[in-house]
Amino acid sequence: MIYLNNKLVPRDKALISVFDHGFLYGDGIYETLRAYDGVAFKFDEHIERLFRSAGMIGLKIPMSPADIKKAVDKTIRSNKLKEAFIRINISRGTGPIGLDPRLCPEPTFVIICNPFKDYPEQYYEKGVKVVIVNVRRNLKSALNPMIKSLNFLNNVLANIEGMKEDAHEAIMLNYKGYIAEGTTSNIFFIKNKTLFTPELEVGILDGITRRIILNLADEAGMKLSEGRFIPDDVYDADEVFISSTTREIMPVTTIDDIKIGSKTGRITKALLAAYRKKVDEYIMAHK
Ligand code: PDD
Repeated sequence: MIYLNNKLVPRDKALISVFDHGFLYGDGIYETLRAYDGVAFKFDEHIERLFRSAGMIGLKIPMSPADIKKAVDKTIRSNKLKEAFIRINISRGTGPIGLDPRLCPEPTFVIICNPFKDYPEQYYEKGVKVVIVNVRRNLKSALNPMIKSLNFLNNVLANIEGMKEDAHEAIMLNYKGYIAEGTTSNIFFIKNKTLFTPELEVGILDGITRRIILNLADEAGMKLSEGRFIPDDVYDADEVFISSTTREIMPVTTIDDIKIGSKTGRITKALLAAYRKKVDEYIMAHK
């Protein structure tokens, strides 16, 4: 079942107009959440970001966070899911052709809830390959990556380039050549026991997983450095990993055909274990 504008409807009846401005202009926002044992992890953080994205495009979400929580829970339950991928998708709505948001009186509000498909265990054990692509991350002052927007062509183009190289993820640089982020993930690297990740000012999404990782590393007494890094900084790292809601923490062992580190990804593994412990604690506390 799909949640569509206040109703649960069967998948094949979950249809929207060709005049929806999400379809015509990519005008809208979204969030991806992951549910463990029927509980959406870090719900409040995702909803806060959803409202922030909405504010940044001047879209008024027609529901309160508490109403959205009820709708998400209802959608998870109606699909009888415990381990789920959840997408909350809000577009400007249906209206005549034209860029004026006032043409659309009501946003289109959708919740899709699918069974969670685990990544192969081998990705976590052996690590994945990523490539740094030629497509640059959107300029912050053009389309700020902090907006989790339906306008995803920047990421799609980067992904197409990455797929040609048989990479699991494509990493984009910003317009100045600093490492930004993956198409659907943030990137971290470790050198001499310090954890490095691009600073938000580079023009990236402030990943919720990224925030948790920075806290975990800090709690573990690791040195942290958020800054501006170039590909050479990553090529000779001891460990590299990417993070996202669906992937959690995924080790990277090849980047642009360069093998990363001679060590076994020990710190990445420890961070993943600590992350999964945080997930367990959260789920226990919110059941
Ligand atoms: N992707 N950067 C981009 C461009 C993203 O799209 C995502 C999330 C992230 C990681 O953010 P978080 O840790 O909050 O998931 C970084 C989700 C998973 C998606 O697009 O489905």
